[in-house]
Amino acid sequence: MDEHVEIEGLVYDAADQGQDGASAEEHAAERVADVELVEEDLALDRSLRPKMLVDYIGQQKVKDSLRILIEAARARGDAADHSLCSVPPGLGKTTLAAVVANEMGAHLRTTSGPAIERTGDLAAILTNLEAGDVLFIDEIHRMNRMVEEVLYPALEDFALDIVVGKGPAARSIRLDLPPFTLIGATTRTGLLTGPLRDRFGASFRLDYYTPEELAQIVKRSASILDVAVDEEGALEIARRSRGTPRLANRLLKRVRDWAQVEGDGFIDEDTAACALAFFEVDSLGLDAVDNRILDLLCNQFGGKPVGLSTLAAALSEDADSIEDVYEPFLMQQGLLVRTPKGRQATARAYEHLGQVPPASD
Ligand code: ADE
Repeated sequence: MDEHVEIEGLVYDAADQGQDGASAEEHAAERVADVELVEEDLALDRSLRPKMLVDYIGQQKVKDSLRILIEAARARGDAADHSLCSVPPGLGKTTLAAVVANEMGAHLRTTSGPAIERTGDLAAILTNLEAGDVLFIDEIHRMNRMVEEVLYPALEDFALDIVVGKGPAARSIRLDLPPFTLIGATTRTGLLTGPLRDRFGASFRLDYYTPEELAQIVKRSASILDVAVDEEGALEIARRSRGTPRLANRLLKRVRDWAQVEGDGFIDEDTAACALAFFEVDSLGLDAVDNRILDLLCNQFGGKPVGLSTLAAALSEDADSIEDVYEPFLMQQGLLVRTPKGRQATARAYEHLGQVPPASD
């Protein structure tokens, strides 16, 4: 999509999502990969993304629900129901939306809540949809209220209400829209307003991938890239990939380079471990901010519970990023817990930092 669309004097850049097609949240997640992004990597990244549900590894529950939604809609000749996807950053929700579009034989149009600044922007997007299109709105909870209200009739009745003229002469006219499927993504469904949440027919939750699922993804990607890797080598990369396929694929490419230069090109457990140590990838895939959070909780605050705003101030990060980007993974790894009194490090966090956990009372 590289066209500009003009409506009511507003120009909407349909390609408003960065060169690589990644959303703002996905860019935030890229902070976890301490690896420089080059154009070649991005092209490769796209080539590794699954196109259809059968190629999509992991998220079994979500895939099962989507298969039913898609097959039922296809049999009826309808657009699939609007779906809300709640997902921690970096888990490939755009990939999943693209899979839905491919399965429906439809186009994918992508944008994000903050990119739709005015009602005219949304009107431009909606009036340019074709029947059956899948519209993906990332960070849908960050859409402003006025824009959100334009979306309600579009979702419910495939209609767009626009006001023509000004003052006493103003009147509202209703335009028909083609049937389409909205896939909205958010880090937490609780951030959505009730009326918007109610307009989705289905709701899914993507979770961090297990090391075993990521190892399968690494093996699939390795076969596409023509790289030789065994089960243990794939698992070693998977364990350090922070639960995300994007990082797993990126680390695979770095390990491949290392194995080519320092070894015989074959990736077994030893090769993967040496390469990842060379690139200073943490044994659990944690990045510098993750490790700093653990260090603050374990050492600076002496292991006591710490309030979110105190933690945010100590890190010079905003509280939302800590809550949405960092904490979910640290909690999933059993390194941090949310208690009524604040955030607290677990015994595993101390062990990860190479320290002895305090005796529990
Ligand atoms: N590449 C990125 N995400 C993937 C997934 N879920 N399955 C297979 N390959 C992938």
